[in-house]
Amino acid sequence: MKGTKTMRITKRVARLSSSITLDVSAKAKAMKAQGLDVVGFGAGEPDFDTPQNIKVAGIKAIESGFTKYTPATGLPELKKAIAEKLQKENGLPYEPSQVIVACGGKHALFNAMMALVERGDEVVIPTPYWVSYPEMVTMCEGRSILVQGHEASGFKITPAQLRRAMTKKTKVIILNYPSNPTGATYTVAELQALAEVVLEHPTALVFSDEIYERLLYDGAEFRSFAALRPELLDRTVTFNAVSKTYSMTGWRIGYLAGPADIIQAAGNFQSHSTSNPTSIAQKAALEALTGDQSSIEKMRREFDQRRLRMVELLAAMPGVSCVRPTGAFYCFPNMKAAIRHVVPKARPGTRSADFCNKVLADIHVAMVPGCGFGNDDCVRLSFATSMANIEKGLGRLAEYLKSK
Ligand SMILES: Cc1ncc(COP(=O)(O)O)c(C=O)c1O
Repeated sequence: MKGTKTMRITKRVARLSSSITLDVSAKAKAMKAQGLDVVGFGAGEPDFDTPQNIKVAGIKAIESGFTKYTPATGLPELKKAIAEKLQKENGLPYEPSQVIVACGGKHALFNAMMALVERGDEVVIPTPYWVSYPEMVTMCEGRSILVQGHEASGFKITPAQLRRAMTKKTKVIILNYPSNPTGATYTVAELQALAEVVLEHPTALVFSDEIYERLLYDGAEFRSFAALRPELLDRTVTFNAVSKTYSMTGWRIGYLAGPADIIQAAGNFQSHSTSNPTSIAQKAALEALTGDQSSIEKMRREFDQRRLRMVELLAAMPGVSCVRPTGAFYCFPNMKAAIRHVVPKARPGTRSADFCNKVLADIHVAMVPGCGFGNDDCVRLSFATSMANIEKGLGRLAEYLKSK
């Protein structure tokens, strides 16, 4: 019976793995619901409320009856605001017609992937990677080519590594900086060097996932990949969302901008799959992009302080080293020694998951295992949580590791 049921699922979808990363958060939530004092570092979203002006725009949209279909790829005024933002902040000369508003950054990425990747295509993905990239490639029947970003180089890949990974079959290279899960950012010189390699392959495209562009620390500078060289504009699809920048993860508004033919194709796909993103959320996103921007810096400053404290506490733990993130809101400490010590019998490949499960069960601290991001020696901790939680949770973890 089980076999028959398995057979009715397509190979394309049956190949997807259940998310190890979500497993821990589900367990942590269940423990909290039982009344246990769980300290969670799993959050992939800011812990701040959506700014009031943005909420009001959403409420106004409902009250004024703005509750019907919009054009499938988004409201014209929102596309215009996105194109203006990309021009002003990122130096990218996209027309509004080169923009698609999607139901979150994830949806934007998936639509573009569906439009561009098919069987036999190779997609180069630097590791540690955001969990959904390889799974999206799988859904499109492409092949993920993973390039190891090493801790010693701040989890960044080098031009030589990228060159080795690229072949005639390379369709897309996915770049994500600041990175989830490592918080790594590339300098402009490093990006220029990667761009040189991309330009050696005339048919390869770049997906530039810029969702954390505004969360930068230690003077890190952000540069959109497509803005590095004029030739890259036709070779790059740029992705972003209001989710992280404006603390709007639940509103589900993201966008992509790129060459006209790609936008046309991804737009056709969206028009037959989801149609428009929620009308109300689009109005709120318009306010986010065109209204008061002061909440971004307030949030960034708060994250910055928490980041420094988290790195300090992690680095002081036995068997732990931590690269200081210069972007996003994650630390990705190497806990290889601690992991082997705490779960010596765990199987390679999922050791970090066993470790996180044990830590959660023993001291009620929730972290995300690195194996979900392609690195089984590390774990991901989000500092999108209060300073009090950081002190409490990492205090517990330090005591625990010392006692082992
Ligand atoms: C690197 C990266 N890209 C895309 C997304 C998707 O964001 P959204 O919530 O807008 O779909 C996330 C969310 O965690 C992310 O970390």
